[in-house]
Amino acid sequence: MRKIFKIALWGLGGIAVLAGGAAAFGQFASERKMNRVVALNPAPVSIPSDDVALARGKYLYESRGCIDCHARDGAGRTFIDDGSLLVRGPNITLGGPTSSYSAVDWVRSIRHGVAPSGKPLLIMPSEDYARMTDADLGAMVAYIRSLPVQAGDGRELRLALPVRFAYAIGVVRDAAEKIDHSLPPAEPAPEGDVLAAGAYAAQMCQGCHGESFAGGKIPGGPPDWPAAANLTPVPGGAMQAYRDSAAFAAMMRSGKRPDGAAIKVMPFESLAELNDTELAAMYAYFRSLAPAGKPAGGK
Ligand code: HEC
Ligand code: HEC
Repeated sequence: MRKIFKIALWGLGGIAVLAGGAAAFGQFASERKMNRVVALNPAPVSIPSDDVALARGKYLYESRGCIDCHARDGAGRTFIDDGSLLVRGPNITLGGPTSSYSAVDWVRSIRHGVAPSGKPLLIMPSEDYARMTDADLGAMVAYIRSLPVQAGDGRELRLALPVRFAYAIGVVRDAAEKIDHSLPPAEPAPEGDVLAAGAYAAQMCQGCHGESFAGGKIPGGPPDWPAAANLTPVPGGAMQAYRDSAAFAAMMRSGKRPDGAAIKVMPFESLAELNDTELAAMYAYFRSLAPAGKPAGGK
């Protein structure tokens, strides 16, 4: 065999061994991280039963993104299925895993991103819900518990190796890693404080648009997902297409830009449920932010 050819073969063999090693590491280290126990002792929230609270709970459940992964009836639904990544949210009616939930288990999973077993939830964006007030969290749980019982677990999760690898090395973080578990529950926005109400509602956008709303590539998202837009008022940023809160609300309800083009990835089934008051407050809040980052999301 010619020497150069031998060297090339050795090189290829080396790459195969390295790739095999990386695959084994990704598999092993991601499993270990998924199976870690997050020690928490959260305070329970009271779960109301009056009609006003149940109506508020229904509004939150349907507008905060839950229905995009758990379905309106709570039976669970496929959110991503693109070959490398399959995510189907579990059944969260009392016919599924939540049948054995104590009041504090609801707080643990929704506010902290941790299952009753102490293991982290993986996909569930609890960081978007961690700062819900006790009253809102209690109302939403009351509504979920009132949903007609559906059978089965419902969940499906398939993560491609590159996603596992990114998770193992901390490039993709689960909600329990992102949340500051030591913060006290959020206080309700003061009556009439539009910017505080907008900031409160906009928390549900942070999982994808980033903590500072500057957008960018969504960690762990499928490769064909566009970068999330920059929602701060940067020159040339996406928000400049929305001259008033009515234009912004029209986009959130239709899933279309002012020029008619469809916007990808955004959970519009939920977002269309946001009421005018919250949409106007969110719009005012985004405009009040200091411009940050690059215009179109960028990196
Ligand atoms: C992007 C998809 C997504 C969204 C949005 C979402 N969830 Fe989840 N949820 C999941 C997945 C997937 C799981 C299974 C655990 C995991 O891998 O994260 C889960 C788990 C749960 C569990 C725990 C079930 C168990 O196994 O113990 C509860 C409760 C829950 N979600 C409630 C909610 C509520 C309430 C909302 C809205 C405020 C919501 N989820 C929003 C995807 C989502
Ligand atoms: C599951 C991830 C996800 C969530 C949740 C999400 N977004 Fe987005 N958003 C995206 C992505 C990705 C894009 C870029 C879409 C594209 O380029 O087609 C985007 C684009 C946008 C745009 C730009 C639209 C345009 O004119 O180009 C606005 C405005 C926006 N999002 C606002 C919000 C607000 C407000 C929320 C919360 C109420 C939110 N998004 C929640 C992922 C998300």
